[in-house]
Amino acid sequence: MINSYESFALTEDKFHTSLVLRNNGIKTADYKLCHRDDGHELKKIIKKWDRMVYKPTDGWGGLGLTKIENEETLNMLMPFLNQMDLRYFYVEKFIDYDNTDFRIDIVDGKFIGCYGRKASATDWRTNVTSGGSVFMREANDEIVDIAIKAANTCGVDIAGVDIIYDRKKEEYVVLEVNGIPAFATPDQEKMGLDFNDRKIDMIVDLIDRKTKKDK
Ligand SMILES: Nc1ncnc2c1ncn2[C@@H]1O[C@H](COP(=O)(O)OP(=O)(O)O)[C@@H](O)[C@H]1O
Ligand SMILES: [Mg+2]
Repeated sequence: MINSYESFALTEDKFHTSLVLRNNGIKTADYKLCHRDDGHELKKIIKKWDRMVYKPTDGWGGLGLTKIENEETLNMLMPFLNQMDLRYFYVEKFIDYDNTDFRIDIVDGKFIGCYGRKASATDWRTNVTSGGSVFMREANDEIVDIAIKAANTCGVDIAGVDIIYDRKKEEYVVLEVNGIPAFATPDQEKMGLDFNDRKIDMIVDLIDRKTKKDK
């Protein structure tokens, strides 16, 4: 089976993924899981972190992510957060980055390709669904190593690993491991993202190997 249920379920859960990555020495954003009644704790956290991001644990496309810039914003947001039927809030330290990311495609533990995404001028999220745009970008060895390690740690055979560069700490941080990463669209292929064929070949090889083993 490709991307076993366990590994896929893991990548669908941001909190759990961060925990597993961290336990394996991969840098992720600092995070906290906060009980809904513990507004006091959230206030302590924002004082320490300065800015934070509230994340639905299973969202995608930047949907529902909220940047909390200061205590006033937090106070304003608390009633809305409390209205949601959630027992816990997942918050992350806001990482000072240049509003661009690296998407690294990995199949079967091997590097397939890299591209970048840039947030629009009016948003801090790089997701295309949040107005971000895709651009050609080379990965370096460090980024590729981190992405392979992240995919292996999560146990996913096919992965799209999102990485940003923390300007304060001067280090790469894994934001997310996606279990269903997309292929390049025709427009993106025209731009020069040319790894679709290689990706398909690698997935076919992987399926061949796995089905042989299962027989
Ligand atoms: N801790 C953070 N600090 C700064 N920017 C972040 C942080 N977390 C997410 N982002 C921005 O928001 C985008 C979406 O976050 P992500 O965790 O990947 O959620 P989604 O599953 O919705 O794509 C990222 O691509 C990045 O641009
Ligand atoms: Mg993402």
